[in-house]
Amino acid sequence: AGQWQGVIREYAEFLDVTEATPVVTLGEGGTPLIPARALGARTGAEVWVKYEGMNPTGSFKDRGMTMAVSKAVEHGAKVVVCASTGNTSASAAAYAANAGIEAAVLVPEGKIAMGKLSQAIAHNARLLQVRGNFDDCLEITRELDRDYPVHLVNSVNNDRIEGQKTAAFEIIDVLGDAPDFHFIPVGNAGNYTAYTRGYREFAELGRATKLPRMFGFQATGAAPIVRGEVVTQPETIASAIRIGNPASWGPALEARDETNGYFGAIDDTKVLEAQRILAAEVGVFVEPASAISVAGLLERAEAGQVPAGARVVLTVTGHGLKDPQWALKTADGGDIEPTVVPADVATVAQALGLGA
Ligand code: F0G
Repeated sequence: AGQWQGVIREYAEFLDVTEATPVVTLGEGGTPLIPARALGARTGAEVWVKYEGMNPTGSFKDRGMTMAVSKAVEHGAKVVVCASTGNTSASAAAYAANAGIEAAVLVPEGKIAMGKLSQAIAHNARLLQVRGNFDDCLEITRELDRDYPVHLVNSVNNDRIEGQKTAAFEIIDVLGDAPDFHFIPVGNAGNYTAYTRGYREFAELGRATKLPRMFGFQATGAAPIVRGEVVTQPETIASAIRIGNPASWGPALEARDETNGYFGAIDDTKVLEAQRILAAEVGVFVEPASAISVAGLLERAEAGQVPAGARVVLTVTGHGLKDPQWALKTADGGDIEPTVVPADVATVAQALGLGA
């Protein structure tokens, strides 16, 4: 067996790589697919959680970044550039560091989670906070890519989508077939598009008998695909998906139609509730944007749209430690202050509610 080799080496035959491609990898992919009995009990479905927070930099972006940076190096790039709500910048910075090239990252000022900001800094990226939102940052990086000697590694780069499709391969390899439904957060809709591609390719190869219905979720305050129009001032506590003009909008609509899929919007309060349910009842801690998959499942099941016994996979995209502040708040926004006690057994036992 030996250790997991990262998604390029594990799935090389399905990717545009050759002997000449310098593989830049941190061992991404091979993430756990966790049975979530508590979510099954709540919904009547058979629920599995694809825990993408277990990737090297704590998000699914690493699957795409190993491809994008490897291909960039193959093409002689010295600087990769990206716009980001945080996770892409953390991943680009780490893979560029490993490859010995520069990462230049643009993030919306004051709107990315502390964990992600610290990752980009730690990996020595050139990070600029832009007075604007993610969509402004992406527009600038596209122009940099056009006019300057830099290599764009946002998901508008097809190499990113190619790498990310491997998550669908892993799910089919574990379950023996595609699930009936796949629930996933949507920002730029790159990952929604990537999973659909992965499922389609394995179905065409006879490794799966069907495509799952692809169910994507945006935050209510940042739901351009659901509303059918660009949102110029997107707002949500799920900062990773605070996006008003998704880069993969067109491909995502095609993927929805191909899979008999769905796009829905979820309120922030429901997102935070789902984050607590997943952490407290399944033992999986994710950042708010990731919990929207869980909230989406609960909402669709409640609406009678998920048949009993249906096999459902939820992608949870980023680790809870990326953005831990929300777990420390009560449902109505107050701060949770853990009880302080003296260093005394009797008092501790009493505070824990333990009987003698
Ligand atoms: N979940 C997390 C944790 C993300 O960071 C992102 C996107 C998404 C979901 C949505 O994925 O854009 O492919 O639909 N984050 C990007 C970033 C925008 O810059 O880190 P998508």
